[in-house]
Amino acid sequence: MKIAIISPNAQHLEDMSQALRSRSQQVLVFEGGKSRMRQVAEHDLPEVLLVDGMCCDPGELSLVEQVTTLHPGIAVVLLCSTMSPEFLLNAMRAGVREVLPSPPGVEALHAAIDRVAAKRPAAAAQSSGKVLAFMPCKGGAGTTFLATNLAWQLSEHASVLLIDLNLQFGDALSFVSDETPTSTIADVARDIHRVDASFLAASAVTVTTNLRVLAAPEDPSAAMEVKPEHIDAILNLATRHYDFVVLDLPRQLDTLSIHALDRAQHVFPVLQAALPDLRNAVKLLRIFRSLDYANEKIELLVNRFDKAGEIGSPELRKSLGGVGQRVIPDAAKEVAAAVNRGVPLAKLTRNSAVVRALGEMATALLPQQDDQRGLLQRLFRRA
Ligand SMILES: Nc1ncnc2c1ncn2[C@@H]1O[C@H](COP(=O)(O)OP(=O)(O)O)[C@@H](O)[C@H]1O
Ligand SMILES: [Mg+2]
Repeated sequence: MKIAIISPNAQHLEDMSQALRSRSQQVLVFEGGKSRMRQVAEHDLPEVLLVDGMCCDPGELSLVEQVTTLHPGIAVVLLCSTMSPEFLLNAMRAGVREVLPSPPGVEALHAAIDRVAAKRPAAAAQSSGKVLAFMPCKGGAGTTFLATNLAWQLSEHASVLLIDLNLQFGDALSFVSDETPTSTIADVARDIHRVDASFLAASAVTVTTNLRVLAAPEDPSAAMEVKPEHIDAILNLATRHYDFVVLDLPRQLDTLSIHALDRAQHVFPVLQAALPDLRNAVKLLRIFRSLDYANEKIELLVNRFDKAGEIGSPELRKSLGGVGQRVIPDAAKEVAAAVNRGVPLAKLTRNSAVVRALGEMATALLPQQDDQRGLLQRLFRRA
């Protein structure tokens, strides 16, 4: 969303814009007082206008009312260091959407923005996050390791939600965190009617500010409660609020996993260069073709690849031609060290061929540098 912040306090501007940019919001900052409100609203047409330094004077609210009347599409959020019940009531009457303390806590700020986003009329039609689905061709191929570690490396540049869809025996969280989840995807499914962005975020484990993991249920029998329609609802919401939604899928194809695969922009079947994996990969590709997935949607990840192995790139290409292939090297010792400690490999060491390969994969998925620079320049010019 495009969010404009007006504040007389440079530190508040800096803190708020940093908190919002970490969630990939487009932020314009204006140092100054509330008298700038109308000009910013008219000139920059933000979707949200955060106005700091509003105090208890109801007289100031007439300025606000002008903006909310002339620009009903802009959600005005006021930040006040003190607030009386009377002021709150008048603020709401003036068409203000939210009143937060000044300066607001990061969580409160994100929650308010999420509420505004959820109420926007066009919100349902807007989903911009990319869904990446990882699926094993054979158990133990390294799917969860690659999904979790790619998610972590992507989250160094973008916001990421990883969803563990191995509903019975999912272990994705343990690859990047030692936390025990207090709620899981089963809790979200149970309460699907009241799920919104903040509920979804609170149900996931926060690994870093940019990476959350929605864990699989602790109790395998709770898996039954998660239905394909829940996956749809969760993905609809998640793609509006995260740049990337990474799915760690089980090996079986059923209505639930096909729902998830249908929704994915990129599907990554994971295999090792061995005959049983290859056979399963051929079958899986055949099914993808019958589901009408374009070849460009699929990229095979050949994990633990050893150049000196019996099955080399030419053999792989011959059996699995048509779709793209990416090779991830074998690094048993360092990968085992990361997995056993429950930390992402890139956090342990940058000096690993596996980290470099995942870094290249992340770069290919992220918007091009040029796009980002162009966007930044535009933002600076405007601010
Ligand atoms: N590139 C790699 N190099 C070395 N070991 C790996 C690599 N990828 C995965 N592994 C090992 O394989 C094991 C199984 O991986 P996992 O992600 O649990 O597989 P899956 O989810 O496909 O069943 C991991 O515990 C990890 O130690
Ligand atoms: Mg797994």
